[in-house]
Amino acid sequence: MPLVEVQALSKTFETKEGRLFNRVAKKVTALDGVSFTISKGEILGLLGPNGAGKTTMIKMLCTLVQPSSGDAYVNGFSIMKAPGKVRENLGVMLTGERTLYWKLTGKENLEYFAALYHMNREESAKRIEYLLDLVGLKDRADTYVENYSTGMRIRLSFAKALLHDAPVLLFDEPTLGLDPQSSRLIREMILDLRKKGHAILLTTHYMEEADLLSDRVAIIDHGKIIAMAAPSALKQSVKSSDIIEIEARNLQPEIVERLKTFTDIYDAVALFNDSAAHSGVIKIHAEKGKEVLPGILDALVRRDIGVTKVTFIEPTLEDVFIELTGRGLRD
Ligand SMILES: Nc1ncnc2c1ncn2[C@@H]1O[C@H](COP(=O)(O)OP(=O)(O)O)[C@@H](O)[C@H]1O
Ligand SMILES: [Mg+2]
Repeated sequence: MPLVEVQALSKTFETKEGRLFNRVAKKVTALDGVSFTISKGEILGLLGPNGAGKTTMIKMLCTLVQPSSGDAYVNGFSIMKAPGKVRENLGVMLTGERTLYWKLTGKENLEYFAALYHMNREESAKRIEYLLDLVGLKDRADTYVENYSTGMRIRLSFAKALLHDAPVLLFDEPTLGLDPQSSRLIREMILDLRKKGHAILLTTHYMEEADLLSDRVAIIDHGKIIAMAAPSALKQSVKSSDIIEIEARNLQPEIVERLKTFTDIYDAVALFNDSAAHSGVIKIHAEKGKEVLPGILDALVRRDIGVTKVTFIEPTLEDVFIELTGRGLRD
């Protein structure tokens, strides 16, 4: 049985727009019939641009937002029928730093939330010490959160999500606005938590992050999941051919014409860095690049062209998104 099972969840927000006495009711469909499952030890990455519905998904799962229709189960408990049980079975980290108390120290924050979760004092003291060490805040445990940097606050929020060691973990854009070092620490910790068997839902609009961490990626746009598969399978689906870049010395323009006669090569161009030294890059667009590569290298060697580097250009999850929507992730 999967630890998370989302069944056709939808959410429509009703808002009012316009001036006083002239308000117009407006409906925004944030999520539209979303379904997925997450198993023990699996990371599902929800990848989509701003406004796609990612935060709404997380907030419905942690029972902060009531769905308009559909249901979801967390460790077997319905978010509609057993919200209390759902909260016991998940740890959540929302975006930003709003969920901490700035007038308390880092350690006091964790103690406060441990009490809210009705954790036994002795047990929670041990857990808090372990978590402060894990997120690199042991030395700053007694500093007021108002004096923390953004990175420190996000790491403390991360520790807060792990307090009661829940089987299901939800992370909403966990590295948003973080410095590279804190981002790396958080990503490593997320991978460790997967190894420990947690089921993890991670939202992000960073394609590299989704690619790096997810076992499966669900691409979400305008409240709908438009593709869901392992990152490699998604990338493979947009890959009709290979692009190979070859850096070379003693590069002669004629080689390009020779390469174009190969049956498996669609196109080739030479880009010179430095025409005097004849060094540059040959870009080759080919069917099954790995199979034609030996023939290409042979043709270069015969003309005394020195190869310094060969790179296969792989499609990214951004390319998948563009293929599906005609837009980039950041548009
Ligand atoms: N409380 C709310 N009231 C009205 N509209 C909302 C509310 N929360 C989110 N929305 C709208 O729902 C859509 C999805 O938002 P959100 O889930 O925050 O997307 P994401 O996290 O992917 O950026 C957006 O159009 C947003 O404006
Ligand atoms: Mg969001």
